[in-house]
Amino acid sequence: MCGIIGCVGRGEETLGTLVHGLSKLEYRGYDSAGVALGGTGGLGVLKRAGEIEALRAALEGRSEFSGSVGIGHTRWSTHGPPTDENAHPHLDCEGRVAVVHNGIIENYQALRDELAGAGHAFESDTDTEVVPHLIEAELAAGSSPEAAFRAAIGRLEGSFAIACLVAGRESVFVARNDSPLVLGIAEGATYLASDVPAFREFTDRVVYLEDGQFAELSPDGWVVTDAAGAVVEPPIETVSWDAEDTGKSGYDHFMLKEIHEQPRALRQCLRGRVDELGGSVTVEELGAFDPERVHLVAAGTSYHAALYGAQLLCADGIPAEAHYAHEYASSPPPAAGATVVGVSQSGETADTLAATREARRRGAATLAVTNTVGSTMARECDETFYIRSGPEIGVAATKTFAGQQTALNLLTQVVSEATPDRDVVSALRDLPGDIQAVLDGSSAEAVAETYLDADAYFFIGRGLNYPVALEGALKMKEISYEHAEGFAAGELKHGPLALVTENTPVFATVVGDDELARKTVGNIKEVEARNAPVVAVTDGESDAGRYADHTLEIPRTNRRTAAIVANVQLQLVSYHTAAKLGRPIDKPRNLAKSVTVE
Ligand code: AGP
Ligand code: GLU
Repeated sequence: MCGIIGCVGRGEETLGTLVHGLSKLEYRGYDSAGVALGGTGGLGVLKRAGEIEALRAALEGRSEFSGSVGIGHTRWSTHGPPTDENAHPHLDCEGRVAVVHNGIIENYQALRDELAGAGHAFESDTDTEVVPHLIEAELAAGSSPEAAFRAAIGRLEGSFAIACLVAGRESVFVARNDSPLVLGIAEGATYLASDVPAFREFTDRVVYLEDGQFAELSPDGWVVTDAAGAVVEPPIETVSWDAEDTGKSGYDHFMLKEIHEQPRALRQCLRGRVDELGGSVTVEELGAFDPERVHLVAAGTSYHAALYGAQLLCADGIPAEAHYAHEYASSPPPAAGATVVGVSQSGETADTLAATREARRRGAATLAVTNTVGSTMARECDETFYIRSGPEIGVAATKTFAGQQTALNLLTQVVSEATPDRDVVSALRDLPGDIQAVLDGSSAEAVAETYLDADAYFFIGRGLNYPVALEGALKMKEISYEHAEGFAAGELKHGPLALVTENTPVFATVVGDDELARKTVGNIKEVEARNAPVVAVTDGESDAGRYADHTLEIPRTNRRTAAIVANVQLQLVSYHTAAKLGRPIDKPRNLAKSVTVE
């Protein structure tokens, strides 16, 4: 949600670097964009509502936009509509201080009243605009730019990542509290961004800022200080993926590329953790993890992975529950002895961070299951288990869902009282190949074409395939904008069946031929009797295919991993439906990749 970029040391390339960086942050979700350039002279600021293209077009031929330091921003509105005026950067009265901000300043109204009372004029509806005016007031009182910035930040309550330019000064001033910021360290240049892809092609050396820290980027290099002003020496880390990993590699959309990356992503997740010969699982990061009971907290797709993980743990004798993080944060259930596991692709979801923080406040041990190295959740939780899916740019989570499911399988094997289940271990080994088989032979596109005019799409499943049904529906909603719902198959007859018509295809996932499968086949017959078309996602063991209008096949495997493979078919159905409807698949309306507000 929102993207910040900044750079020092790029000379003539400064503006291009900023705009390129913003385009790499588009995936986070935004509704307006802007840049500010500065250095030894004055500031140049340009901002536009809408896509980065609108900003790019407005910058065309504007030679005054040069400078040796710069900041840029993609805004995801929280205070005021997405207009040119509300876009960032925001300025003080004299246009000598420019600020970009991600987050929410909770005490902005009181600060705005105070500043307006002292004669400051405001041009936007945003909470952010108080910041340049606070800095202006400090400068007017005789403070240096560093001191003015620090004093202004000290007045703020809420969540923020802030970058600031002051006219005449070749520096970017930076502060962080509760919103992500990372520095990129290169020879002769320093970068700053909400996420590494913004500057990855220039450097792989990064410094993750901590809450409460400040930084100044200048031609002399970079310095990080703590809240009291003391210099700190944070570790410089090296990112393990390349700039190409954040490109589309010839696919029409990041989502399709990421769906196709799943075999590779899961191989990375499993590498070194599964001993195929010995039939055992070892996860170094989980060395000391031996919970009596587990509460998994998450949102959106990650919550579906959490539901799936809770079932695995329960089946292996470890009491486990999945909770929506936003509910858990405000009314956590009694949890004596529970270890709290935050499941989050980004590791920056405000709701999930609030839940893991609440858990820590109550003294619970916490584990982060995340894709993002150096994310806030990874740094705050006691332990972190990385799913290693590689960067995911499409707003709709795909490969990271499969990565979370796989990681939770590994986690279950590690903590399970029983010796590792050889059948699960060998199914995990086969998982990348099974997904490849689905990708190579899926008829999901034809199914999508058949039901393009549907009134609604329903998804059903039992047991481990219940979270798959929920995820199938969420994916369809997010990217196609069509009405979709996921149900536990047994729940259908308790109400939702009233919605079923000949124009509401029902996607049923049926794995194996056990009791659960047979009951789901019964549910298929119920909807069929009401003339609804049925698409069975199945391994062909049961007779689900006999009653279905279409079958999306998956290879026969252990039912734990079958749920991961089945979901790939549903991802493809959603993708092709959205593509045929001409939706902006990678950046669905109103949604952000990383939801950093509660
Ligand atoms: C999934 O397609 C969505 N983008 C969304 O539901 C997402 O899963 C949710 O916001 C949680 O994000 P996280 O995994 O980064 O915490
Ligand atoms: N709260 C600020 C605004 O509405 C920043 C939003 C963002 O994080 O993009 O402008």
